[in-house]
Amino acid sequence: MKHLAIISILVIIFTLLANYFLQSVGLLPVEASEQATVIDKLFNTHFWIISFLFSLISVVVVYSLIVFRRKGDDEDEGDGKYITGNNTLEVVWTVIPLITVIFFSFLGAKSLAATKVIEPEALNVNVTAGQWYWFFEYPDFEIKTDTLFLPVDRQVKLTMTSVDVIHSFWVPEFRVKQDVLPGDNFVKELYLTPTVVGDYTVRCAEFCGGAHAYMNSPVKVMSKEKFQDWVDTELGNQPKDPVSKGQKLVTQNGCVGCHSSDGKEGVGPTWKGLFGSTQKLSDGSTVTVDEEYLTNSIVKPNVQIVAGYPANVMPSNYADLFSQDELSSIIAFIKSLQ
Ligand code: CUA
Repeated sequence: MKHLAIISILVIIFTLLANYFLQSVGLLPVEASEQATVIDKLFNTHFWIISFLFSLISVVVVYSLIVFRRKGDDEDEGDGKYITGNNTLEVVWTVIPLITVIFFSFLGAKSLAATKVIEPEALNVNVTAGQWYWFFEYPDFEIKTDTLFLPVDRQVKLTMTSVDVIHSFWVPEFRVKQDVLPGDNFVKELYLTPTVVGDYTVRCAEFCGGAHAYMNSPVKVMSKEKFQDWVDTELGNQPKDPVSKGQKLVTQNGCVGCHSSDGKEGVGPTWKGLFGSTQKLSDGSTVTVDEEYLTNSIVKPNVQIVAGYPANVMPSNYADLFSQDELSSIIAFIKSLQ
């Protein structure tokens, strides 16, 4: 009983010391996102358990070595007592670890769920990974950049894909990590809410070839005002005249995959000389191509099909995708192709 009391006190003391050591060596970098708080809580709980188990084992071993060692006058050199089984002990050392493991898997699942909470006003950023670069696109502003700019205290939804092999998006200060896979069927999402303004680095955490170690890109977390300034500056650099704006839009949105600008036949009619022309439609009627017809053809592409072209090919979500201003720019561009 005396030994048990001493060992218990020593275990408590060494648990506190070991945990203090683990907390103070700075194993984890600064905690810079809401998701990081969740992960760190889990880490800290683990640190406590690790400290306790380490102390429990080391204290018992060292205590036994010292206190129960063979003393100088001990003449007994025979074998120790032969013990064949102890049901209570066996049940205890099975049930306690079982409960501990189940408890931690519950904590893990709960924390994972907490890092995947989606906020409706999240900022959208499309991330493209490739050998060996990161590329970021802000669909709401039509900005493309190789540096990830983020406003503080606002959730960002990263929609990620790779153009070649498997990469992994990892900013240690944000804790959460996500593999980035090639192929349209494997688009991955990651949710981040940066909480500390500062400069960070996104690394690739999946070995992806020769320059894997150098696949870093800057991440800048800025105040909401500074972020808006950055967006405005970027937008100021964008083409202002409707024709160039329209040209940029049709290139970015893949329209040029089906519609040529030089008269070449494609899946859809060419834009060259289209504006002002008279077209025969699949229902036998004819139409003069004007602003109204072009607008309708973009937002409701299956209503008035030009004769000879297939229906249900063009995406039908452009009404949501393009603003009125963008539609006018696209039409201005088509108009310019005479
Ligand atoms: Cu990309 Cu490693």
